[in-house]
Amino acid sequence: MTDSVTLTIDGQQITVPAGLTVVDAARRAGIEIPVFCYHPKMEPVGMCRMCLVEIGRPMRDRATGEFLHEEDGSIKIQWGRKLETACTARVMEGMVVRTTTDKVSEARKAVLEFLLTSHPLDCPICDKGGECSLQNLTMAYGPETSRFYYEDKERAPKHVPLGDLIILDRERCIKCSRCIRFQSEVVDDPVLTFYQRGHHTDVATFSDPPFDSYWSGNTTDICPVGALTTVDFRFGARPWEMRPAASICTLCPVGCNLTFDVRREAASGGKMVIKRVLPRQNEQVNEIWICDKGRFAGYHFAESAERLTQPLVRKNDELVPASWDEALRAASHGLEAARGKFLALASGRLSNEDLFNLARLTDALGGVKALDSFIAGGDLTAQFGLGEGSNLADLGPGDTIVVVASDLEEEAPLWWLRVKQAAERGATLIVANPRFTKTERYAKFALRYRYGREAEIVLGLADQGCNCGGEAVKAVAEADRLVVFYGQEGIGLRASRALAHAVAHLLVKTGHAGKPGSGMVGVWPRANDQGAWDMGFRPQDDLAAALKAAKAVVVAGADPAGDDPALAAALDEADFVVVQELFLTETARKADVVFPVLAYTERGGTYTNGELRVQRFYPAVPAPAGLLADFAVTARVGERLGVVLEARSPAAIMHQIAETVPTYASVTYEKLAEVREQYPLIRRTDLYYGGTAYENTRGLGVALKPAGREGETPSLEAPAAPEAPSAALLAVPVTRLYDRGALVGRSGTLEPRLPQGAFVVLHPEEAARRGLADGAQAALKVAAGTYAVTVRLDRQAPEGVVLVPRSMGVPVAEIASCELGTAN
Ligand code: SF4
Ligand code: SF4
Ligand code: FES
Repeated sequence: MTDSVTLTIDGQQITVPAGLTVVDAARRAGIEIPVFCYHPKMEPVGMCRMCLVEIGRPMRDRATGEFLHEEDGSIKIQWGRKLETACTARVMEGMVVRTTTDKVSEARKAVLEFLLTSHPLDCPICDKGGECSLQNLTMAYGPETSRFYYEDKERAPKHVPLGDLIILDRERCIKCSRCIRFQSEVVDDPVLTFYQRGHHTDVATFSDPPFDSYWSGNTTDICPVGALTTVDFRFGARPWEMRPAASICTLCPVGCNLTFDVRREAASGGKMVIKRVLPRQNEQVNEIWICDKGRFAGYHFAESAERLTQPLVRKNDELVPASWDEALRAASHGLEAARGKFLALASGRLSNEDLFNLARLTDALGGVKALDSFIAGGDLTAQFGLGEGSNLADLGPGDTIVVVASDLEEEAPLWWLRVKQAAERGATLIVANPRFTKTERYAKFALRYRYGREAEIVLGLADQGCNCGGEAVKAVAEADRLVVFYGQEGIGLRASRALAHAVAHLLVKTGHAGKPGSGMVGVWPRANDQGAWDMGFRPQDDLAAALKAAKAVVVAGADPAGDDPALAAALDEADFVVVQELFLTETARKADVVFPVLAYTERGGTYTNGELRVQRFYPAVPAPAGLLADFAVTARVGERLGVVLEARSPAAIMHQIAETVPTYASVTYEKLAEVREQYPLIRRTDLYYGGTAYENTRGLGVALKPAGREGETPSLEAPAAPEAPSAALLAVPVTRLYDRGALVGRSGTLEPRLPQGAFVVLHPEEAARRGLADGAQAALKVAAGTYAVTVRLDRQAPEGVVLVPRSMGVPVAEIASCELGTAN
């Protein structure tokens, strides 16, 4: 089969990749074939008939297979007697397509007239009005009048909650099944279905809780009418009132490209506010999808009334409002006295520019650059990560993906989706985890190990020592490209360091280290952890001791005191604490000086995602008066200490980063803003095709060139993994997408889906041994204290362990013995 096909559409000869549908081929030639049920990211079903066209196929001599020719020498074309659906017809050599004949336009009129027989036509009050495929295509191709009586229209309920986040207007649904197919085909959460027949056909959910999926918001983007709307945007604004601002999701290391739609409104006191979050196309990162966490919890924290609005300084043991001058004076005084005994603790919540300035200040003061993270290995991912020339969408037959110690959909949903797709395309997927996760559904090999033994199993894959039948070892050794994700399941700092080394070892041993398309990916807890490593920040083996040893501490974008009582106690011992924060966190309450900072929605900057792609975000709303970005706060503090730091713009800081950090040498703000054509061609001008996701006009980012491409090899002296305690019951930290973290916990929209209190998950037998039933209140005793938790049962949890979700109020840094019993 040839790779490309030449055909003629409306007299225009085009050459396109073989296998395309006629709809997609026409788009590449700039010819519009309207669709409703077809979506370029899903298999065609030919349900709505909106795409009917005339198709002619070249005739061949049955004996020779040669084309037959007309007298004038042109190839003889056989036209079908009926119109055909362009969404199900695949292009073929010599095909001829007509999309503008009378027959076609009559068919389009008929389809639209039929759809409108039962449509409420409430466009003036419909949320989709202005960006509705049915509205737009009716205007372009529909009949001017209807032969049907308005009074005979079917009536149906207009407010049917499909779940906590999505509302269905049954009258508006045109039964295209895009939402149902998205849920089953794309994200494998088949929780929607049609029920009833004919005119009564209706979309329904059958999961408990209803519409139980991390992906539900995407159905509102691809619904071609206003039948599906999100609870937060429903009746919120008209599309033409808003302007788009390009941004990046900050809630996990994928870095999905987003668009914030913003408008100024009276209800918000005349302020510019974000009205909704939509995906922005980046086929190398998130395609046109985002998860519900990014959509419904990505920015609400920035609008919280609890935001800090002015600096605070401690006086008489109380934090009181102060001027910037006073706060800067106090901070510089305290830091000056701590030269040589200083520690800066930052997190991957900060942008590269913030981290760079803080790193330079810390170096100038002779301090320690500490990273608030429980996963190690960022130095190795910088060497052997994916970066330039890599795209998960390229993986297929001959390639192997290993996912180890990660419940990928919970930790980084878009990576889960892209790994699933790669497996469906034919890549070999190996999932190594102590319990079943959704990723395993697509795995060719599922490897089990006891919590704490994750590095061992990876080393086994590398050195043929694992008991996985040799087939998995072979799939790794012989892979054209090898990608290894290592994540957060049961992982603490020491265990992840051993695991990261084991993964690097695997890449080196199998000859994949430094090869484009191959590499290791840390499933980091925060969006810019990779950037923080690149700017020189490192997790501390004993952060409490490091805090105690410092004479002064600057904490930026982290809340160690809120996360762990031991760190809170350590901060109490530090002589002088400066905090840069959005909120008065537990850590800020302990500070001597608190600087309020801008949220990422109010400023520009860059993040580096886990695939080593640097991506730029733009200000969506104006910066509130009196607040500064983190990089500017650091620069002001530096100025008082005689340390000159760039503060004019993040672009200027990136210039310095490029000069200082070798792997960033080619990164500029101009390059970050570059775009090129992406397929499928998603455009805002023709929403009928891809939905309301935004075309990317503000930058696809720059993939870094990992240092390991230059032939460097890592030290393969793997640090020993910590011994897992041998207690009867182990507390194992795990990550859930929905937690009560500082940012997500402030999303009112997502609130009904967030856990209401601390909970633990364990096997029913394990619970029964302790007299605990599902939903029981229990007491969990761990090193940090005893905590009240709700018990949830899950047969997939291994016996002998209690899974303790992070950011839910029970601090478990790494696997440790615990006790669980009935609450008194
Ligand atoms: S709700 Fe929307 S996407 Fe789903 S079948 Fe109806 S029209 Fe199609
Ligand atoms: S997958 Fe991650 S980056 Fe993407 S929208 Fe969800 S939380 Fe945000
Ligand atoms: S039948 Fe082709 S778009 Fe619906």
